[in-house]
Amino acid sequence: MFSLRHSRRIIPHLNPTAYKNCRCSSDSIRLDSVRNKVKQGPGLKDFIVGSSEPVLLDRPHIPYLPDNAHVTFKRKVFFDVYGCQMNLNDTEIVWSILKNEGFERTEVEEEADIFLVMTCAIREGAEAKIWHRLDHLRGFKRRREISKNRDKPVKIGILGCMAERLKVKLIEKEKAVDVVAGPDSYRDLPRLLALTSSGQTAVNVLLSLDETYADVVPVRLNQDSVSAFISIMRGCDNMCTYCIVPFTRGRERSRPVNSIVDEVRHLADQGVKEVTLLGQNVNSYRDISQQTEKADTHMAKGFKTVYKNKKGGLRFADLLDKVSSVDPEMRIRFTAAHPKDFPDEVLQIISERPNICKLLHLPAQSGSSAVLERMRRGYTREAYLQLVEHVKRTIPGVGLSTDMICGFCGETDEEFEETMTLMDIVDYNVAFLFPYSMREKTTAYRRYKDDVPEEVKKERHSRMIELYRRKCQLLNEAEIGNTHLVLIEGTVKKTGQVLGRNEFYLKVVFDQEEILTVDGGRRQAKPGDYVAVKIQSAKSSVLGGKPLYHTSIRDFYRECCWSDRSRIRL
Ligand code: 5AD
Ligand code: SF4
Repeated sequence: MFSLRHSRRIIPHLNPTAYKNCRCSSDSIRLDSVRNKVKQGPGLKDFIVGSSEPVLLDRPHIPYLPDNAHVTFKRKVFFDVYGCQMNLNDTEIVWSILKNEGFERTEVEEEADIFLVMTCAIREGAEAKIWHRLDHLRGFKRRREISKNRDKPVKIGILGCMAERLKVKLIEKEKAVDVVAGPDSYRDLPRLLALTSSGQTAVNVLLSLDETYADVVPVRLNQDSVSAFISIMRGCDNMCTYCIVPFTRGRERSRPVNSIVDEVRHLADQGVKEVTLLGQNVNSYRDISQQTEKADTHMAKGFKTVYKNKKGGLRFADLLDKVSSVDPEMRIRFTAAHPKDFPDEVLQIISERPNICKLLHLPAQSGSSAVLERMRRGYTREAYLQLVEHVKRTIPGVGLSTDMICGFCGETDEEFEETMTLMDIVDYNVAFLFPYSMREKTTAYRRYKDDVPEEVKKERHSRMIELYRRKCQLLNEAEIGNTHLVLIEGTVKKTGQVLGRNEFYLKVVFDQEEILTVDGGRRQAKPGDYVAVKIQSAKSSVLGGKPLYHTSIRDFYRECCWSDRSRIRL
């Protein structure tokens, strides 16, 4: 547990809501006096002023801040984002908070005063990359200290899951960074950054039970993109034994439906054509601020949870209903999901709404019931396969994606072969395949031995990739001659071809040419257009085709055979 005792230079979290609900509250009594002092102290705006020159404000002495804490610049922030889409969206939330406080953003390292690294802790490899980046940034910081710009010292901040996991190591052992901010403390960042102006290190890694950043409108890092991300929930209660996420991101909590719908509307008004609803486990979404008369649905047969069943409130099917109704020409995707939370009402709404993409994430993690039991996934291989059958029957033409881990503690050759046969049976359109990486704090760390040798993990990993690619190649070749609805994103740099994505998020490329528009004219495709593309060639990760005509989601599926909705044979 991190505490004030570890370093006098570390100032804890002062946000009253998060403070009240935090899980790491052993510091709370000691912090009370600090909180009271803060209440009487200056506000955030007092530390950040709109000038590119350092400004010394006339302020009284504040006991817990050094006298020059308010010497500040209109500082430029450089973002580095590692890890999942949730991290990208969190960075957009951070940017929104900082922009609001007068910070600027730069994409040029030399211009930056602050480097904020959004981190991932899910596997050792992810963390290794970030340590490497930190070495580079520390070198950059040292060079600034002896350059003519030394009056504008560089500050380095670590945000996200690795900050939560390695708070003490980052600050005390490695002296690597100036700011450490966990996933629930981004509102506190302007204050934390202000504290660093006198060389202090500032930390806030408390987790909250209710922080969802519902009222923060993320500012997109790529304003030109036709797609955007929306976080609908945070944290995870599943406690799979291999996974660090419940420890770094805390308890599951959902954002109110209305704030999500408002954000979708706002994005539609900006011309965004595709939103991905994000969370660790989106399909267990539940807005408990809204009560409904509907009875709770039951989990599919053969699935169970480690937590007590949640009751009442609006659920994922209700959210999908509302979000997909905002704009029928806005594609809706969602990730990540857990197979336990796909009741019929969710499958039904996905099947009925043309603008909800029919690619379902059903992360199996393993094909062996014994491994699934050790992973505490709450289902067997048989229950999973039954669910796959049910999903394929309920949503004709559905695509499936998965996450798979090989080399988990005690995984035998036979158990691994079961993963291979599962992948063979299910025919995944998309798969994320990982060798197991032991994480401290997890149940597996305490209970099991990481006993599959690295070479074996590597070999199993390569075999999974090879099988997946081979199966994808076959699936994709079967699409030759079919017509896909493609949302145009831009062009391929190397070839100049037009690049878009089909319903299954597979890349589709074609040579630019003028094609028929909805109102009878002709023009080339541009980002944000929906184009009907006849598939002519297939690789395992990209399709090539010929553009036929401009269209819309509604028009395309009106012409399309209902039982095979993602494609039409011409
Ligand atoms: N080692 C390897 N893969 C992991 N994942 C989560 N934890 C680990 C780990 N310790 C994978 C799971 C999860 C995905 C996001 O990352 O497959 O679904
Ligand atoms: Fe990790 Fe399991 Fe939660 Fe996914 S569902 S984030 S794998 S604990």
